[in-house]
Amino acid sequence: MKIAVVGTGYVGLVTGTCFAEVGIDVTCIDIDQKKIDNLHKGILPIYEPGLEEMVSRNVAANRLHFSTNIAEAIQGCDVAFIAVGTPPGEDGSADLKYVLAVARSIGENINNYCVIVTKSTVPVGTAAKVHKEIADALAKRSADIEFDVASNPEFLKEGAAIDDFLKPDRIVVGISSERAEEVMSRLYKPFLLNGHPIIFMDIPSAEMTKYAANSMLATKISFMNDIANLCEIMGADVNMVRKGIGSDARIGTKFIYPGIGYGGSCFPKDVKALIKTASENGYQMQVLQAVEGVNEAQKEVLFSKVKKHFGNDLKGKKMAIWGLSFKPKTDDMREAPSLVIIEKLLAEGCTVSAYDPVAMPEAKHSLGDSITYAKDQFDALVDADALLVVTEWPEFRSPSFDVVGRLLKQKVIFDGRNIYDPAEMKEAGFAYHCIGIRTAHHEPA
Ligand code: UDX
Repeated sequence: MKIAVVGTGYVGLVTGTCFAEVGIDVTCIDIDQKKIDNLHKGILPIYEPGLEEMVSRNVAANRLHFSTNIAEAIQGCDVAFIAVGTPPGEDGSADLKYVLAVARSIGENINNYCVIVTKSTVPVGTAAKVHKEIADALAKRSADIEFDVASNPEFLKEGAAIDDFLKPDRIVVGISSERAEEVMSRLYKPFLLNGHPIIFMDIPSAEMTKYAANSMLATKISFMNDIANLCEIMGADVNMVRKGIGSDARIGTKFIYPGIGYGGSCFPKDVKALIKTASENGYQMQVLQAVEGVNEAQKEVLFSKVKKHFGNDLKGKKMAIWGLSFKPKTDDMREAPSLVIIEKLLAEGCTVSAYDPVAMPEAKHSLGDSITYAKDQFDALVDADALLVVTEWPEFRSPSFDVVGRLLKQKVIFDGRNIYDPAEMKEAGFAYHCIGIRTAHHEPA
């Protein structure tokens, strides 16, 4: 099979590379010449564990190609994925201009039957617009070429994207013809060896599935954050409550960890977009509105704890921050809670010294010189008044607390990810603040 993947962002690059990995001839296309030049040199626009090696292996095997020329790359393709960005507009709805421009250009250039698949997360109804765009372009050329559109939402987690792609829990494909179903079954066959299903459905349902999945997960998180905050007030321990409810198979143990709010490129954007789509169609998503409100507030919880601990005068205090990316194993800073926390600390006159294993170059784009970037996690602590754990990178989980205590000016830790044991912290003489876990009786008065 031969396929094209348009858009070499996160989704496009992982998708294209993983298809090449199973032997399919793939061309990844982008209008950004610099990006394509870099990819030819093996320089990737994103960090994802294992991806760089996989790209170079498949380029060397001549199965993975990069190009800016969509007209040429699309020739003879069985499938073309549209994986370009859908940035949120002012009002929160996904901007489809890139998706539709690619659709048009595919219509202007295909020379044989092709399934055109939307892979970007797009609102319900987008595939119909893509179909129209292609049909119009073909009509203009007076070309009598058959095509189908399909919707194939992705469920990749950053930091685990390759595994998620190669061993998916499920693949969802919205189709409107048997021919498209046959092509998509053939394409995905190598990934279904573990017995997990490919679920075919109508196109609007496939488009809705992506939003419903992410919104449900975001709901779990906001719900647990609310419970954690209430636990603190009522003297309960959210770790206990989490275990207590998670053992009910209907609730499950995953995605019920409280923290400092969800971030990233998907949850915030998708929750907003679904609220918007619903309201445009005369329906209020009341649960999701609350999910979003709770999340915005939760991003400020760690800062509130800092303020409560030190009193109102934070001016001149130095805060050490471990972790900047919205979650571990990625350099993605989009909607990262760290940005909110840092902004609040700086506004109070604090200085901030931060360390992140991979996200510091990315963080510099938005934070610039407003903070100092430490050379390692311990360097960040020197003479700081407190440590704030913001992202739960594995290397932060078990530091030498002797060293941490010696480097800090005051032995205070604000843990936004609940990675330490309150009893151990008490033993080591730290004032330890975390999210919804009972620490009052462990804490020095
Ligand atoms: C998510 C979905 O998991 C994925 O299926 C979809 O395709 C894209 O969005 P991703 O954004 O990469 O993936 O991150 P994920 O690992 O799901 O975490 C999202 C956010 O939720 C992070 O900010 C994380 O810290 C937070 N989170 C997650 C919690 O606060 N508690 C949890 O229990 C789980």
